[in-house]
Amino acid sequence: MRLNAYLARAGVASRRKADELIKAGRVTVNGEPGQLNTFVSGRDRVELDGWPLEKQRLAHLLLHKPAGVVTTASDPQGRPTVVELVADHETRVVPVGRLDADTTGALLLTNDGELAHRLAHPRYEVEKVYEAEVEGDPSDETLRRLERGVELDDGRTAPARAKRLAPSRVELALHEGRKHQVKRMLEAVGHPVTRLHRSRYAGLSLEGVEPGEWRELEPGEVARLHSLSRSEV
Ligand code: URA
Repeated sequence: MRLNAYLARAGVASRRKADELIKAGRVTVNGEPGQLNTFVSGRDRVELDGWPLEKQRLAHLLLHKPAGVVTTASDPQGRPTVVELVADHETRVVPVGRLDADTTGALLLTNDGELAHRLAHPRYEVEKVYEAEVEGDPSDETLRRLERGVELDDGRTAPARAKRLAPSRVELALHEGRKHQVKRMLEAVGHPVTRLHRSRYAGLSLEGVEPGEWRELEPGEVARLHSLSRSEV
C-alpha cells in the first residue's frame, strides 16, 4: 500500500497529514527517506522520526450516535464528535457518511479506507433505515409518494420504502445518502421531521447498544459489508 495509507493505518495521521510528514523527510522506509509514491508491504520497516511503526489491524465499529454529537473529526464550535466517543478503541477510525448533529442512531466507523469509500459511493449505496417523528400524520398516499420519489432542489429521490409505525411516526428505507435527505423528503410532502433516528445501516442493528456506546462488528458482518459493496453496482 502507499506510504501515506500505511501511516494512516498505523494511527499516525490522516493521509493528507501523512503526506506532509513524508515531504518533511520525517518518514523512512528500510532506512531510506520515504517519498509520496513509495509503496510498502508488511515486510518493510517504516519509521517516523526514528520510531518504528506498525500497521494497525482493521477495525469496524457500530456507534449508537446520541443527539448533539457531530459526525466530523473536529468541530469549530467545540461540540463533541463521534470520533471522541470511540477514542477508547486502539485504532484510529473515521465515520462512513454522516448523520446530522440532532440525528441519533447507527453510524459505522472504520479504518478500512477502501471499504469506507465503497460504502459511501453512490454506486454501491447500501440500505439505510430511518425512523422519523413528524408533524401531522402522513396519509397512505403520502407514503406512496415518498416511495415513488419526491422532487427536491437537487433532483428527484430514488425509489424508497415507507411505512407508518404509529401516528406521526414513519419508517423510511433509502439507498441514497444526500445531505439532510430524510428531513427534506418529509418537508417536501408537508410533514416536517421533529426527531430522526437511524435504526439500521446496511442491515446492521443497534440492538443492545445504548446511546453513546459502540460495538465491534462480528467477522460475518464485516464479510457481508464487503460483499454488499462489491455486488450492489
Ligand atoms: N437524513 C437527514 O435528513 N438527516 C440525517 O442525519 C440523515 C438522513
